[in-house]
Amino acid sequence: MLDMDWTALRAELPVTERWAYLDHAAVAPLTRRALEAMREWADDLTANGLVNERRWLTRIDEVRSLAARLIGADPLDVAFVKNTSEGIGIVAEGFPWQSGDNVVIAEEEYPANQYPWLNLGGRGVEVRRIASRPDGRLWIDDIVAAFDARTRLLSLSWVEFASGFRNDLDALGALCRARGIAFFVDAIQGLGVFPLDVGKTPIDFLAADGHKWLLGPEGAGLLWVRREWIERLRPIDIGWNSVVGARDFTKIDLQLKPHAGRYESGSLNVAGITALGGSLEWLLEIGIDKVAGRVLELTDHLCRRVAERQADLTVFSSRRPGAASGIVSLAYADPARVGAVVRDCRANGIIINKRAGRVRVSPHCYNSVEEIDRLFGYL
Ligand SMILES: Cc1ncc(COP(=O)(O)O)c(C=O)c1O
Repeated sequence: MLDMDWTALRAELPVTERWAYLDHAAVAPLTRRALEAMREWADDLTANGLVNERRWLTRIDEVRSLAARLIGADPLDVAFVKNTSEGIGIVAEGFPWQSGDNVVIAEEEYPANQYPWLNLGGRGVEVRRIASRPDGRLWIDDIVAAFDARTRLLSLSWVEFASGFRNDLDALGALCRARGIAFFVDAIQGLGVFPLDVGKTPIDFLAADGHKWLLGPEGAGLLWVRREWIERLRPIDIGWNSVVGARDFTKIDLQLKPHAGRYESGSLNVAGITALGGSLEWLLEIGIDKVAGRVLELTDHLCRRVAERQADLTVFSSRRPGAASGIVSLAYADPARVGAVVRDCRANGIIINKRAGRVRVSPHCYNSVEEIDRLFGYL
């Protein structure tokens, strides 16, 4: 990545002053822009109350446009939600199920993408959970084998949270399309690192909170719904802001907005969305292609070093092109070491995490090769 000065970009992440922060798959630090945006909003609200409300409403729509740009969507099809779970719930609860239908998910999925579907049991919807192969991969053949005439929806993470396996959204989406199966993507572990264009990739729904690779705060997330689904989903969580004339408080007319705006039932998390906007601007200025290249460069470097060691530590994640992600899962021959390694790293200024009995390392584009080398010294 010769064309970017990644070292200069580190100034945007104050966290770099103290930590080698390699845990973006958990909760990310904020960019300086996100912090400043949030401060500006808080200062204004403190000094002026609602006097400048219009300015913040405009800002929310600007952030909506940034989010839409990130995924190649129409801003009207993007709703702000409080987290990934809320986005999944809107679709899981609103989907036009019939008793006897089934939904296919992954067995090793993060719980956010399991419970909303499992909760449909009472409505006669069967949940089919696909096991990963021993190398942490979800095999497309296994997924297809679970489909039948009553399969209505496939819901997967773009990137699996524990193994770091990146699902092939284009291939899976095409298979779903061909069978009339809807495709929901929990995008939280991929959005901000890898490019996505919903104009080309055949998915139907996407949700992600902003607190991981988007470098935003918790509680400010996105839900994207392909327009043709809007009228087919039973509207859930409808409120004053869901209707066409939302700002005319004296008129009651239940005419829902004909786009994703209907899911924003009431007042929004202005602080969070504003902050998310700061980080989105920064990422889009860099370019998501470049972010992806850099994250893969750093994670490849880590995997090479681990492979060279050839001892007690192995790379669990698939590093096959297309399947590799920003998450590197490392397995110790003795899993009891994992906790101590994570603690030891933290004591020495390096933030990583553990998942599924393995060490999980998740660098972002502003991290450095030197930081990865420093981490390696503690593994
Ligand atoms: C795949 C996946 N989905 C969702 C979440 C978080 O869900 P929420 O945004 O509802 O807190 C995580 C967090 O680790 C995750 O890894």
